[in-house]
Amino acid sequence: MSGDPVSRRGFLKLCASTGALVAGSPALLARTPPERSHSTPARLVHSSGRPLRLDDLEVGENYVFHYPYVTTPCFILNLGKPALPRDGLEMDDGRKYSWRGGVGPQRSVVAFSAICAHRMSYPTPTVSFINYRHEPTAYTTRELKMARREQVIYCCSEGSVYDPAEGCRVLGGPAPQPLAAVDLGLDEDTGELRALGMYGGDMFERFFEKFGFQLALQSEISDIRAPVGEATQVVRLSDYSSNSNVC
Ligand code: FES
Repeated sequence: MSGDPVSRRGFLKLCASTGALVAGSPALLARTPPERSHSTPARLVHSSGRPLRLDDLEVGENYVFHYPYVTTPCFILNLGKPALPRDGLEMDDGRKYSWRGGVGPQRSVVAFSAICAHRMSYPTPTVSFINYRHEPTAYTTRELKMARREQVIYCCSEGSVYDPAEGCRVLGGPAPQPLAAVDLGLDEDTGELRALGMYGGDMFERFFEKFGFQLALQSEISDIRAPVGEATQVVRLSDYSSNSNVC
């Protein structure tokens, strides 16, 4: 973590507010706390280095950042509606977990791994087969019925569909588990956002095994498993990927 006293102070405040939230909510205590698979905090920042604040996120826009590794993309979204905690999400190995819900006054800001839980399609600088759709989208449910709804994350590869307002539970397609969740932290005084960790079914080891060579070429980084460090840049998906609207 940074030695910058402002960052440290903000982070301590953030930890304190998280503790107060849990202490004040027996329901949260009763829930199985998320077992973070990664728990190194990173500040979310603009490409200028300026801290990303809640108000910077436009409702309905796709934003991406890398976390917890320099090569593993995540989405951060302002859904414009409350995203409340949800129990009973299940990983592909059968373990259950509870999603903590969105952050912010409306609990509308959420973040998830952008690596599809099916065959791990992910946003690259040339193309993204997976994105968030604020407008109504047609898809096939897990029961093989046609459906249409707004505010989904859709993967064009084989049609997996996730609900980001409910922990990215799977609505349709072949994905065997939700997208892994980013545990977001918010400094309530400044509105600054941090990634605190990951939980749910992260697929990073499988991702590195499958795409290691490609990731090294794309990122021009020899250590594809390098952690992001104390800050990670958030950009619009349309700026990150040349083609993010492929189906
Ligand atoms: S990789 Fe996303 S649906 Fe297959």
